[in-house]
Amino acid sequence: MARVVCRNLCKRFGEGLAVDNVNLEVAEGEFLVIVGPSGCGKTTTLRMVAGLESVSSGEILIDDQVVNQVEPRHRDIAMVFQNYALYPHKKVFDNIAYPLQLRRVAKSEIEKRVTETSKLLGIEHLLQRRIRQLSGGERQRVALGRAIVRQPRLFLMDEPLSNLDAQLRIQMRREIIRLQRQLDITTIYVTHDQVEAMTMGDRIVIMRGGLVQQVGDPMTIYNHPANQFVARFIGSPPMNLFEGVLENSNGELQLRTGFAQYTLPVRARDSLLRNKTLNATKVICGIRAEDVAVTGAQMGDPQGMIDLVEPLGSDVYVSVAMGSDMILARANPDLMLQEGQKTPVTLNLGKMHFFDADNGNNLLVSGR
Ligand SMILES: Nc1ncnc2c1ncn2[C@@H]1O[C@H](COP(=O)(O)OP(=O)(O)OP(=O)(O)O)[C@@H](O)[C@H]1O
Ligand SMILES: [Mg+2]
Repeated sequence: MARVVCRNLCKRFGEGLAVDNVNLEVAEGEFLVIVGPSGCGKTTTLRMVAGLESVSSGEILIDDQVVNQVEPRHRDIAMVFQNYALYPHKKVFDNIAYPLQLRRVAKSEIEKRVTETSKLLGIEHLLQRRIRQLSGGERQRVALGRAIVRQPRLFLMDEPLSNLDAQLRIQMRREIIRLQRQLDITTIYVTHDQVEAMTMGDRIVIMRGGLVQQVGDPMTIYNHPANQFVARFIGSPPMNLFEGVLENSNGELQLRTGFAQYTLPVRARDSLLRNKTLNATKVICGIRAEDVAVTGAQMGDPQGMIDLVEPLGSDVYVSVAMGSDMILARANPDLMLQEGQKTPVTLNLGKMHFFDADNGNNLLVSGR
């Protein structure tokens, strides 16, 4: 197990900053997921930790030792790549054994460790097959086997499931979580899939344009996204966003949106007023589909017109046109809602988010 620290880590490619002053701490045995859109610097960060990419500035420490100048093979790290990087003409056994052969481990010990590893992954019956005779999921397991066979102090995984179909991804996702807990090896896992990030990570790092947007455990990030970008990126479907104006009048905080006027709950008011003096302040409001109801209308709730009904079986997502805004609500399929139907819309104001209209930062003090 290792502890990893990135301090003011930067990577420049020519003019561009691919990784921009990243600060991170990965605890011993932790499963840390780095997530973000394509090109945000995930792979570059991981490759710097592995030593496959030089560091432009800043430091990487593994177990309190600065490793910037340490050769990859001396960092005691195993990396699993998106394309597996296996030897297609070699047998499964030799692919898994390779890192041990490189280190001149005794033959009997190699036999033992490869057998153990293949049992752990349920591929002991495939050891004599060649890689090109395997399915995608089987290849994925071999790649994992090669990474874990020598019990490194750190695992780095770069989109290891992206070549698999949806069902296999879910299965392998669970296997990787189980394996990581069993082996207790510190892991940094890169993905652009927010569901993978939510379900796998002890903590999640969200990157955008080389910059870290937020670091936290999945539910904290879900419940308190640091900014508008994180709010839209984490959670499926993405959070509803719409414009509003906050007005502080006689100790009450009023929210005026394009479709209704609300008096905000005391906790939201106190939290917002701690951050800012509010006087006809433009904000971006955010609310998740599960916090919008289309039944059980209360007095004064605005009405909207159902624009689209998307049944998922267990739930149905309903897009409701509210003035010029479109609000997505999660509803019970038994309601038999119809497109074109009018419906009242109730927002759970206690769950509403408010973002700065200029910089997108969350205006609520966290832990409200
Ligand atoms: N060798 C390189 N030379 C120049 N630019 C590079 C190089 N490698 C990466 N970049 C640039 O650095 C930025 C970050 O790339 P990186 O591969 O880290 O993104 P990523 O987050 O892994 O994206 P993806 O999800 O598509 O894999 C991108 O803008 C990319 O074009
Ligand atoms: Mg990448």
